[in-house]
Amino acid sequence: MDYLEIIGGKELSGTVTISGAKNAALPIIAATILSDKEVTLTNLPDVVDIRTLLKLLHMLGANVAHEKTVAKVNNGSINSTKAVYEIVSQMRASILVLGPLLTRFGECEVSLPGGCAIGQRPIDLHLKALESMGANIEIKGGYVHAEAKNGLHGAKIIFDKITVGGTENIVMAAALAHGTTTIINAAKEPEVVQLCEMIAQAGVEIDGIGSSELTIVGTGGKALSFQPVEIIPDRIEAGTYLCAGAITRSTISLDKVNPQHISASIDKLESMGCRFDIGEETLTIYPPKELKPVNLITIEYPGFPTDMQAQLMALAIVAKGESLIEERLFENRFMHVSELNRLGADIWLKGSTAAVKGVEKLYGADVMATDLRASSALVLAALVAEGTTNVRRIYHLDRGYDDLEGKLSKLGANIVRKKENN
Ligand code: UD1
Repeated sequence: MDYLEIIGGKELSGTVTISGAKNAALPIIAATILSDKEVTLTNLPDVVDIRTLLKLLHMLGANVAHEKTVAKVNNGSINSTKAVYEIVSQMRASILVLGPLLTRFGECEVSLPGGCAIGQRPIDLHLKALESMGANIEIKGGYVHAEAKNGLHGAKIIFDKITVGGTENIVMAAALAHGTTTIINAAKEPEVVQLCEMIAQAGVEIDGIGSSELTIVGTGGKALSFQPVEIIPDRIEAGTYLCAGAITRSTISLDKVNPQHISASIDKLESMGCRFDIGEETLTIYPPKELKPVNLITIEYPGFPTDMQAQLMALAIVAKGESLIEERLFENRFMHVSELNRLGADIWLKGSTAAVKGVEKLYGADVMATDLRASSALVLAALVAEGTTNVRRIYHLDRGYDDLEGKLSKLGANIVRKKENN
């Protein structure tokens, strides 16, 4: 197993190029199932989650040619609609194939993803919405068995909670359904917007893109033809590098970024004393000598994203004063707290709120990554910890960060990937 060895204390400088967004690419890859022709995807991040989903499509019988940032996927040859446990258990987002498989083929079996480190993460809202579109759903042997022999029909869906994956699954299902589907309380994340735009460009009428109410007029079973899709920049990767600049008090620039998508993170970093030069696709951060504390609550887009909570906490642990961080989306997304405390942080946790008292110094230690974003918080803290930090279990990082150690090394960090000798 690989781990990262980081020696803290180096100042960073230069420009980092932001990769395509994993969370935009995953639903877009799933959406290719709505077509029986070749679809070209570019600016894919070169990360494990993308390879996992493409492998799933390949296992279903699709023709997949993938190299680094480009994939050509042809789902004309799909001959199975069973998404097996072996893949779904590796990546929860595999559940995104449920809507497109069911709407195109009238049946499918998808393994239940189960819980994960950050919480239970049920899929009840996905299933309830598909049922109101006419699907018969049964859970048997750890699988969701879904059937709609004559296709799905349009329906009015009111989500009890805003769900990104649920909205994406239903948008895809609605695209080939008979009649009109309305989604109320839809997610508005940029990744949902790009998925809607891709489907709308293929000729499906979608109203309300980017709002909390979406109306989708289905094609009545007719498969789609997609234009090539260039994946939008990864707003979480971008936010993570801004935090790398802020924590090391270094001026760094980001290239190929969409500053609008990260305005909630920019806003919080400004309140901590950082200044920015904001271009159309570029961003430069000028951190202060001393970071101010921050108070934040994670909520849905355009609010502050839960996927940036751990990284901001890494900044708060070295800020001057006390910060309060409340996690509203996932019940168990504070696994990084005990690991950050191992580096010398002073974090007190009560329920869904963390009180963070800034400390003057962190000290390198062995720490363990617990989930994707928690891992990046450990890397950030290690960049300023005195001495050596070994971040273990970095397969979490490899799921979502494209060449993290390469990009950080290029900025001047002392970070190397090593192999455990066992
Ligand atoms: C997506 C992102 C993830 C991000 C999250 C919230 C991808 C691949 N992943 O995850 O990085 O942290 O959005 O921004 O895009 N819920 C239910 N029932 C459901 C579905 C969700 O109760 O059927 C709950 C979840 O447990 C959670 C909340 O709703 O508390 C939001 O989850 P959701 O938006 O669905 O997250 P994901 O799509 O899984």
